Amino acid sequence: MAQDLQASAASKDSAATSSAKPVVAPGQDPDARADRTLAQMTHEEKVSLLHGSMLLLVAPAQRPQGVQNGAGYIAGVPRLGVPMQVQTDASLGVSNMGQRAGDVATALPSGLMLASTWNPDVLEAGGRMIGSEARAKGFNVMLAGGVNLVRDPRAGRNFEYLGEDPLLAGTLVGHQIRGIQSARIISTIKHFALNDQETGRNVLSVNMGESAMRESDLLAFQIGLEVGDPGSVMCSYNRINGVYACENKFLLTDVLRRDWGFKGYVMSDWGAVHSVGALTAGLDQQSGEQIDTKRWFSVELKKSLADGTIPESAVYLAARRILRSIYAHGLADTPLSMNGAIDYAAHAKVARDAAAEGIVLLKNEGALLPLAQTAKRIAVIGSRADLGVTAGGGSSSVTPVGGWKLQVKAAKGPAAMFSRKGYGGTTLVSALQAAFPGAEVVFDDGTDPARAAGVAKSADLVLVVAEKWATEAEDNADISLPDGQDAMIEAVASANPRTIVALEIGNPVLMPWAAKVPAILSIWFPGQDGASALADVLVGKVNPSGHLPMTFPASLSQLPHAIVPGSDAPLADKATRAVYGLNSDTKPFEMSYPEGSDVGYRWYDAKQAKPLYPFGYGLSYTTFRYDTLKVSGGRALSATFTVTNTGDREGAAVPQVYVRAPGKAKRLIGWAKPKLRAGESRTITVTADPRVIGNFDATAQRWVVPAGTYVVELGSSATDVSATAKVKLQRATRKP
Ligand code: GLC
Repeated sequence: MAQDLQASAASKDSAATSSAKPVVAPGQDPDARADRTLAQMTHEEKVSLLHGSMLLLVAPAQRPQGVQNGAGYIAGVPRLGVPMQVQTDASLGVSNMGQRAGDVATALPSGLMLASTWNPDVLEAGGRMIGSEARAKGFNVMLAGGVNLVRDPRAGRNFEYLGEDPLLAGTLVGHQIRGIQSARIISTIKHFALNDQETGRNVLSVNMGESAMRESDLLAFQIGLEVGDPGSVMCSYNRINGVYACENKFLLTDVLRRDWGFKGYVMSDWGAVHSVGALTAGLDQQSGEQIDTKRWFSVELKKSLADGTIPESAVYLAARRILRSIYAHGLADTPLSMNGAIDYAAHAKVARDAAAEGIVLLKNEGALLPLAQTAKRIAVIGSRADLGVTAGGGSSSVTPVGGWKLQVKAAKGPAAMFSRKGYGGTTLVSALQAAFPGAEVVFDDGTDPARAAGVAKSADLVLVVAEKWATEAEDNADISLPDGQDAMIEAVASANPRTIVALEIGNPVLMPWAAKVPAILSIWFPGQDGASALADVLVGKVNPSGHLPMTFPASLSQLPHAIVPGSDAPLADKATRAVYGLNSDTKPFEMSYPEGSDVGYRWYDAKQAKPLYPFGYGLSYTTFRYDTLKVSGGRALSATFTVTNTGDREGAAVPQVYVRAPGKAKRLIGWAKPKLRAGESRTITVTADPRVIGNFDATAQRWVVPAGTYVVELGSSATDVSATAKVKLQRATRKP
């Protein structure tokens, strides 16, 4: 076993970190501070910044003292005041996959639910909250900012991400990162790039032209970097056009540094490094080095420096980028401490408010909702609504305050090694009991449709909770509700017409029973107090304002791929794993996305396909009018319009503006979320980013907005259009 350079440095480290003073005064320019520190560092100290370990995999005798156990750690340089980097997952809270027995954290709703708010302030508030909990628990790097575009509604990690549109996802993730880094910790933005499915994630190659990449997945990262200024980018497992993301010079040097001017550092995903040459391609830090096939940035690097295949300057550059982020985000000036105070009550409200704003009301026939609180007997049927709500599995999994009431093995492939389905937080049964104090609330798990129908028949009101779980490292084969839930809903709805369906889902689902139920809501994975948020919406304490951040297909046949690419690939064998790493589930395969940059609603628009529910869709308990659309063109496109609350109660609208460039599918150029009292109007202006309405010319390496007539659509979703206008634009170009 190669000597772990980490532990020895780390063991000295933990003793001295708190007392050592940064070499250069806080607040000074991070570049200057980095240079000053580097000038005093030894070669070994520089190299020690370039590779990280997973504490769980370090021999107990070698484990550094005083380091919080999470996703990983990187030694610091105590004599120079350089702190250890102690890493935790992820975007939905301080995750705990068994690293800290008994530790809990505030569990935010899923990424898709946060994105359903279309409210950057919610993402920022959630980021501030989870960043402060990470800091209080002894972490100073948060592996958050997941912003892979949701291309396939079967992909296992969509629940972590922020939808199908690069402008929406990039804007929201930027605010999440801003919130997290306000706790003086580094946030990542991840997984760079095109890691948009789980099947074969360690071995597949996504083959895509540069223009399509730049106009979709890369644009989400570019906007996220501009808005959030993350200290680190995490490169992904997969290959892009045959070259691993973590050794992809085009991605990590040409795009990220040359074009976008990123000054932070690139860390790998865990088990995503395949060569020491990655260092000169733009990777700066090997994460969790024990699960790679080699210790590329320690043992192998030493050999490559010695034989001259890697220049010392590459070590300097990587160490400098890491130090710069350490200084820029306050890590050197904020001592690590594992006993910070956490106001869990206040944090629970952040999670509950986010859930309340992220609930999407999909159907409300006959204005069944909001409910009068008169029901005397309420049936809650399905999922484990008696034990809690579920959340997505994998590295983003947060053990909620109160702990898991139940954890089951639900993952099959490689995910089964580390992913569990848990139920925790406020239960829907208790939330409804609290909302209907005089009522009798009965629960049935819905596993026997006839029994469930019997329970429903005798109730005044029925809430069915339909669940479709999702996890990292595994995609779903379809988008149907599993375990006979469709039949159960049909039976229950036939027994009682006052049946509401709440979808506890990590991805869109088909709803063959939709015509039979008067009310449907998507509650996604609603976070530790999402049940209370749903109760607030059901009784009208909260007027729902969630809008879909991804399209709900009417059938699988509408998708660009009939099956998830690689789901029919040969399974990995020993030889595959020896080359591609332990996580490999299939043999290598190539794949491409026929939709290119026309992800999600753009694909449906290009194909003139009608989804079950469109991107941007969501109902309210009030009504809104969108009108007086005026557009201006020339060198830039802007649209001004009025939103009026035409109903009888306050509510928040999400007016959206889409633009169809000549010969292209429509693209979201902007939105707003005005909260309006009954009768109140607001005038709003949005301006198109040329990278959203333009094309990326890979030959000229420029964004180009062609001259021509553009169609502007104002509406409440990608297909519900209230007003349109045409406008002429001059040709315009912009650097990458
Ligand atoms: C995982 C994930 C990544 C996570 C990392 C550390 O495999 O892909 O999102 O941050 O490992 O847990």
